[in-house]
Amino acid sequence: MSYFCAKYLIEMIMKKQLLAFGVGLLAAASVSAQDLSTIQLNTPSADRGKSIMMSLRERHSDRVFDTKELSLQDLSDLLWAANGVNRPGEKKRTAPSAMNKQEIDLYVFTKDGVYKYDAFQNTLQPVASGDHRNLIAGAQDFVLSAPVSLLMVADLSKFGGADEHSRTVGAADAGIVSQNINLFCAGVGLSTVPRASMDQKGLKELLKLNDTQVPMLNNPVGYPK
Ligand SMILES: Cc1cc2nc3c(=O)[nH]c(=O)nc-3n(C[C@H](O)[C@H](O)[C@H](O)COP(=O)(O)O)c2cc1C
Repeated sequence: MSYFCAKYLIEMIMKKQLLAFGVGLLAAASVSAQDLSTIQLNTPSADRGKSIMMSLRERHSDRVFDTKELSLQDLSDLLWAANGVNRPGEKKRTAPSAMNKQEIDLYVFTKDGVYKYDAFQNTLQPVASGDHRNLIAGAQDFVLSAPVSLLMVADLSKFGGADEHSRTVGAADAGIVSQNINLFCAGVGLSTVPRASMDQKGLKELLKLNDTQVPMLNNPVGYPK
């Protein structure tokens, strides 16, 4: 074997090993939720925040956030305000929904992973590990500095399908959840902005959504900077 032939073979083997190493790294960083645990949320605090009139006065969009993590109590209260259970006996929620279908699912994006809010168990259920906030950000990088982003996904199968009427109603219900978030944040001094922009395709792939589960809106949330 000539010198050049041997050198070529060695280079090929090294490239293959590098490729295998790269594939191994990718597999290790895969989006399985196995390394995340269920998070038990706190009981919502009944007596915090400004009056409803002051909260409405303070409500505004923020696009700058402190990167500090939200405390468990703030996250718990935020989710309860967004779409928690406020009448357990009737299984009803802080946000109204068309025909009480309760079709808005809330996903919580953090630097560690993505969770789904289970309002009835008051828990966060792991969905995907890793930082996927870039899918919420889309082209707006300011979103990456918010420690938490809440994504509202309308499960239109609860209306029988993703026809135009169901989409309109699902969008309206998502808007109400988003406004609960906006008002809660205004009332307790957190920063947020309601957003329709996001990487729809990437989110559908990550969250394994079907055609009747539609990402409608998101709210990055953090402490003011
Ligand atoms: C349905 C909806 C979608 C929005 N989408 C975005 C968005 O993708 N990006 C963004 O920066 N702001 C978004 N906003 C925020 C608006 O730009 C903002 O509410 C508006 O400029 C008024 O400012 P204010 O919220 O401070 O009153 C959205 C607001 C709504 C209601």
